[in-house]
Amino acid sequence: MRVTIFGTGYVGLVTGTCLAEVGHDVVCVDIDEAKVEGLNRGVIPIYEPGLSPMVKANHAAGRLEFTTNAAQAIEHGDVVFIAVGTPPDEDGSADLKYVLAVARTIGQHMQRTTIVVNKSTVPVGTADKVRAAIAHELAERRTNLVFDVVSNPEFLKEGDAVNDCMRPDRIVVGTDSPQALEKLKRLYAPFNRSHERIVAMDVRSAELTKYAANAMLATKISFMNEMACIAEQVGADIEHVRQGIGSDPRIGWHFIYPGAGYGGSCFPKDVQALAWTAQQYGCNPRLLDAVEAVNAAQKQHLFELMTRHYGDVRGKTVAVWGLAFKPNTDDMRAASSRTLLQQLWDAGARVQAFDPEATQEARRIFGNREDLHLCATAGEALQGADALVVVTEWKQFRSPDFARLANVVKDKVVFDGRNLYDPAEVEAAGLSYYGIGRGR
Ligand code: UGA
Repeated sequence: MRVTIFGTGYVGLVTGTCLAEVGHDVVCVDIDEAKVEGLNRGVIPIYEPGLSPMVKANHAAGRLEFTTNAAQAIEHGDVVFIAVGTPPDEDGSADLKYVLAVARTIGQHMQRTTIVVNKSTVPVGTADKVRAAIAHELAERRTNLVFDVVSNPEFLKEGDAVNDCMRPDRIVVGTDSPQALEKLKRLYAPFNRSHERIVAMDVRSAELTKYAANAMLATKISFMNEMACIAEQVGADIEHVRQGIGSDPRIGWHFIYPGAGYGGSCFPKDVQALAWTAQQYGCNPRLLDAVEAVNAAQKQHLFELMTRHYGDVRGKTVAVWGLAFKPNTDDMRAASSRTLLQQLWDAGARVQAFDPEATQEARRIFGNREDLHLCATAGEALQGADALVVVTEWKQFRSPDFARLANVVKDKVVFDGRNLYDPAEVEAAGLSYYGIGRGR
C-alpha cells in the first residue's frame, strides 16, 4: 500500500520505517529541511537501537523516501498518517498546533479519497477537529472529496521502538467507517500473524485508550515510589516488597520498579494532559494529580538522600552515572537527572557526569558550565569524585567493581537511584549505600 507519514520524530520515523520493512511504499514528510536531507543521506536524528540499518536498507530499496514536499507526499498516500508532536501548552493541555497545521495541509492538497490516520497522542475530540480542519480547506477549494479520520494511537517505547512496532501487543483502531477499518487491517496484516491484534472501537475510545495506558503505567510507578517512601521509613526493603507483589499475576512484574521518578516525553506530559481534559469535562482527576505530585517529589529524592548523608553538599564533586531518562536512548526530556543536577548546582556542588548516549544532548541542554564536566567513560566520572550517584540503569552500570569504587570515591558513598545493587555487597566493600525505599 502507498503510505504517507507526516512527522519524522520517534513515532513517525519508526512507524514509517517498519511499514516500509514489511513492503509498503512509504513517503515521510517533515518541514525540517536539514533533517530530511540528512535522512536521505542515511543520517538518523535519534538514537534508537536497530533503526538506522532499517532506515538505510529500506531507503536503498526505494520503499522509504523523505521529503519536505507536502503536496507530492499527499498525492502519494492512500493512507496519510499524522505523527507530529503535541507538546504541552502552558496550562498542561496538549498543544494541537502541529496536528491541525498538518490537517489543513492535507485539506489543501488532497486530490482523491483519503484515509487520514492520527497517530500523535491527542486529547479526546481531536479527530473531530482534524476532520473540521480538512473539511474547511476542501470547502475553500470548493471540492467535495470523501475522507475518513481514524484514531490509531501508538504504544511504542523509546529504546525498544522497532521491536514494539514490528511486534505490537495490540493495534488500536478507532473509526466509524467499515471501509477505513478494512484498509487499516490490510495495512497492518503483516504485523498481525499469529492472532488478531487489531482492537477496533469508536474514535473517542481510541483517543482515550492511549492516555489511559500511559496514565495506568505512570500510576503503577508512582504507587511503587510511594511504597518505597513508606518502606524507607518503616525499615523495610521495597525490593523484597516488589518481588512479593509482582508474582501475583493480577499485579504483574512490569512497571513496578521504584526509582528516581519517571521522565521522558510521554508520561509527564500525558498524565497532565489527561488531567486537563478531565477538568474540562467536569471530572475531578484526584488520582492523576496525585500520580504527578508523587513523581515530582520523587525526582527530588536522590538529592534529599544526599542532604541526609552530607548535611550540605557545597563544594562536593559528585559523579553522576546516567543522564538519559531511561537506558537505550539519548533522550533527556523531563529526565530525573535534570532535577538532580539543578539541585546539586543550586547547592554549590560540582558534577562529573557520564552517559553512554546522552552526552551530546546534555551539552546542548546545559552548554558549557564550570560546575559540569561531561566525561567520556564511567571511570573518568569517578576520578576525584566525592560521591557516586546512579540515575539511569544502563546495563554497564549494573555490576561495577565495588572494591575499586571504594578506593576511588573519596567519601566512600553510593546513591543508587534505580536500586541496581545489593546493599550488603556494596557495604561489604566499605562503602555507604543509599537506595530507593531500602530502609532495612
Ligand atoms: C511510554 C510507554 O511505555 C509507551 O507504551 C508509550 O507508547 C510511550 O510512553 C508514548 O506515549 O509514546 P517511554 O516514555 O518511551 O514509553 O518510556 P518507558 O519505558 O515507559 O519509561 C518511562 C519512564 O518510567 C522512564 O523514566 C523509566 O525510568 C520510568 N520507569 C519505568 C520507572 O521508574 N519504573 C518502572 O518500573 C518503569
